[in-house]
Amino acid sequence: MNNVRPDTMERITTPQLADEFIAEQVAEIKAQVGDKKVLLALSGGVDSSVVAALLIKAIGKQLVCVHVNHGLMRKGESEQVIEVFRNQLDANLIYVDATDRFLDLLSGVADPEKKRKIIGGEFIKVFDEEARKLEGISFLAQGTIYPDILESDGVKAHHNVGGLPEDMQFELVEPVRLLYKDEVRVVGKALGLPASMVDRQPFPGPGLGVRCLGAITRDRLHALREADAILREEFDKNGLATKVWQYFIAVPDFKSVGVKDDKRYEGWPAIIRAVNTKDAMTATIEEIPYSVLHHITDRITNEVYGINRVLLDLTPKPVGTIEWE
Ligand code: XMP
Repeated sequence: MNNVRPDTMERITTPQLADEFIAEQVAEIKAQVGDKKVLLALSGGVDSSVVAALLIKAIGKQLVCVHVNHGLMRKGESEQVIEVFRNQLDANLIYVDATDRFLDLLSGVADPEKKRKIIGGEFIKVFDEEARKLEGISFLAQGTIYPDILESDGVKAHHNVGGLPEDMQFELVEPVRLLYKDEVRVVGKALGLPASMVDRQPFPGPGLGVRCLGAITRDRLHALREADAILREEFDKNGLATKVWQYFIAVPDFKSVGVKDDKRYEGWPAIIRAVNTKDAMTATIEEIPYSVLHHITDRITNEVYGINRVLLDLTPKPVGTIEWE
């Protein structure tokens, strides 16, 4: 499987082609793995979820999934991983709530690159600790996809647990390594994964950590998560979720004066960012109807404690990057 994708390989665009791919991969995984055990870091993103579902189909409980909740997930994400993989697919899933470890380490750290390093480093530590508790693991499965190989710019480095210690190296199982993202989604649907998981927008490894700007505090992180959930709900309801490539809230580390129930109400602003792009190298701004923006503003300012203004980021990339940090 180390060969580069041949140009002649048919693209997986239909459920039928997905079924063929799945049958092929199931046979290949069985042949590679035999009766040995495979470990997978399951973030709940599209790629690792599809790899998990494929491996469960091929080798069932010989796959051990580890889901590390770093406390920077979006609302309901870890719960969905548990529901889909443990409850519905009967997977061997180890759930680690490492929220306190991550947030304690991040306390007082304002520099974005330091934050990323802490989150990436701690992720590997937690995963490594879990892996060491397990016996007889021979393989490591990864959700590497074809663009990761082409770019190999390290964007997904910490999700791909590339940095495991020397004595924790395993043979790799990478069943979707020759697929593009759209193909992974078609395969995921054919495997029966929910649309909310398979059609998910890209989400950075450091998660809400790079959207809770500056030094993360638990109260502001909570406000961000709630506001982001409202944005996602309203984009879904208004048909924008399928039109916009990436959309999220960022909450900066400052307050402004406001008024609520006739009283002074100091709060953080919630910044809406909604961009379209093909490759994330450049991005344009999606036009959101004002009626939708008004409704989102009403909901966020009324429902989310601590937020008293909603702003819209109109900056394309360049000059603005997609994320704020
Ligand atoms: P920027 O902000 O550089 O983002 O315009 C381009 C795309 O990359 C995502 N992104 C990240 N993904 N780890 C990731 O896995 C990161 O540290 C990271 N930073 C940005 C961003 O969400 C966008 O899709």
